[in-house]
Amino acid sequence: MVIGLMGFGTIGAGVYELARELPGLEVRHVLDIREIGIPELTHRAEDLWEDPEVDTVIEVMGGLHPAYEFVTSALQAGKNVVTANKYLVATYYDELLALAREKGVAFRCTAAVGGGIGWLTALERVRRLEPVLSVEGIMNGTTNYILTNMTQNGLSFEIALSEAQALGYAEADPSADIDGLDIMHKLLLSANIAFDVSLKKEEIPVFGIRNITDEDVRNFKEHSLTCKILGSARQQEGKVAAFVQPTLLAADSLTASVPTNFNLISYETAYTGKMSFYGQGAGRYPTAANVVQDCLDLAGGVQDFYSLQSAAAAVDNSIARYRYYLRTASLKRVTVAEEHWGNAVVTKAMTVTEMKKLYDELKGEDEKLFIAAIG
Ligand code: HSE
Repeated sequence: MVIGLMGFGTIGAGVYELARELPGLEVRHVLDIREIGIPELTHRAEDLWEDPEVDTVIEVMGGLHPAYEFVTSALQAGKNVVTANKYLVATYYDELLALAREKGVAFRCTAAVGGGIGWLTALERVRRLEPVLSVEGIMNGTTNYILTNMTQNGLSFEIALSEAQALGYAEADPSADIDGLDIMHKLLLSANIAFDVSLKKEEIPVFGIRNITDEDVRNFKEHSLTCKILGSARQQEGKVAAFVQPTLLAADSLTASVPTNFNLISYETAYTGKMSFYGQGAGRYPTAANVVQDCLDLAGGVQDFYSLQSAAAAVDNSIARYRYYLRTASLKRVTVAEEHWGNAVVTKAMTVTEMKKLYDELKGEDEKLFIAAIG
């Protein structure tokens, strides 16, 4: 396999290192805008897809542009594409898969969800045999690192975030982590594969952890709860629900115990029941390892692992109900409170659709509000 590698950042450098160790894989070109002092470096993206001996292009630049243009050019030129870029795949899912199919090349993105966990490959395998009822879990290392450190070590949000950045877990713009967008992209990919659908990003409500405070964490501890931010999707009665939200879990539960940058993602099927996948969800070597595994799969003859006929489906969150922890300076506008926890309330059970509406109304008055579902 002759590889053109796009991007020599945290993940790209890991891919370069791991791939070079393997007989049968040659990294022929490395695209980066910087002078990185390796013989394979080029600043011309075209070198990767104009080289007839390159059969596979790996994209680990991140971001939408120019990653989209480069990946499209590589597919057009008949190259297999392996990417870890969930933002790219979640945004151009239908288009990229259709193009790969048209050109008869493979498109794989196992590292896009769960970092080093082979979650998407497991999901694809189970789906061949039995319908998937739900997918849910911790899908972001940065926010799990922050929440773990706030809960267990009393770190402030800001310090925990800067540590996650220093460790290479966070996105270039960490808003994507703390506002839940990174999870939304991973959830969309997981749901598309699990349910054989194509969801629209704009329809998935996302509640982040940007506003969580030490006082919130104290409130949770007093009730023996731990906050984790989860991506959740389920298929029920012909409807697909999908949402990202901070969720309060019994402090001694499995999910509540997931530490630092680790992810824990589960699917549930009719016959196998619930299966969970645990491992490092971010970081150089875990993520790079899954990228290289995709290359090895391709070298072994595996093609893309997506459905050939995913149907567009509308997100309908009226099938998901929770009680919510809600902290806002505009409490007088909240008519659904059932209990008071310190300066916050717990609402009566409401659908995710109803919470999204209430959240958007309150957000106009109070930018610092925070909500968490009681799981
Ligand atoms: N920023 C992401 C995370 C990287 O923290 O999980 C891995 O997708």
